[in-house]
Amino acid sequence: MAIVHVTRQLPGDALQRITDAGHDLVVRRELMPPEAAELRRIVADADGLITTLSDRINTEILDAAPRLKVIANYAVGSDNIDVQAALRRDIAVGVTPDVLTDATADLTLALLLGVARQLPAAARDVTDGRWKTWDPQAHLGLELRGARLLVIGAGRIGRAVGERAAAFGMQVDYAGRDADLAALLPEADVVTLHAPLTLETRKIIGAEQLAAMKPSAILINTARGGLVDQDALVDALERGRLGGAGLDVTTPEPLPTYDPLLELPNVLVLPHIGSATVAARHRMTELAVGNVLAALAGEPLPHPAKT
Ligand code: DGY
Repeated sequence: MAIVHVTRQLPGDALQRITDAGHDLVVRRELMPPEAAELRRIVADADGLITTLSDRINTEILDAAPRLKVIANYAVGSDNIDVQAALRRDIAVGVTPDVLTDATADLTLALLLGVARQLPAAARDVTDGRWKTWDPQAHLGLELRGARLLVIGAGRIGRAVGERAAAFGMQVDYAGRDADLAALLPEADVVTLHAPLTLETRKIIGAEQLAAMKPSAILINTARGGLVDQDALVDALERGRLGGAGLDVTTPEPLPTYDPLLELPNVLVLPHIGSATVAARHRMTELAVGNVLAALAGEPLPHPAKT
């Protein structure tokens, strides 16, 4: 019999399959993610571990986990885990791909539409009592038909965003790994980020890239905050060198309430809810459980993390 720890409560009833398979299941009940010291205590007797993207699994945690066979991350990304270090210790690492593609692509379009049509400032005008009358000149946004969208990261989510944007009449360009961003960025009306966070993609959008974009351009990020140099982004927005930004992910998460991004008129910041639909989150639980059960049965993971 194995012991499986889950660092947070998860939606759906798939965790039940772990006890049905005869394993011990220990689900942590707190809302806030565990600090490193608590994580070390959790993994001390764990054979299986289900983590969320808020749990930083580094060598220090792995060293405290003598029995661990599998880490099933409740996310499509695995940048919160030192995957190579886990594999070196024969600990399998799993993720939850595909099931959140539509949810994340939908949210990307919500951000894109929201910022393109200046919804943050428009909604604030209403709630703050500044809206006096219908105004032919107020809140003139970007029309999507004919506008050019650059999708950076041409994987499943990036493609799903591109399909949706094409249905709105946007012209869609994809930038994969070896794309010439310097040539593509100046053409884009909207740039949306869908690359995994790795050493190569960290701050893939920095001061130089922002300077290459049109001053009216919009940046959308529903991938990872670390893809963007946030100080450079604030600077570009404050100087009017960028039209707006829609961010589901930031550094850190959550942003402190005094962060300058939250003061800017055409910036919409959300609390990392890309995969937050009932269907996606239930299926993510199923996939995470499937990864744990496979590893504990000595089988390859159905959904291993990319290495
Ligand atoms: C992921 O899965 O990586 C998302 O960011 C969280 O759902």
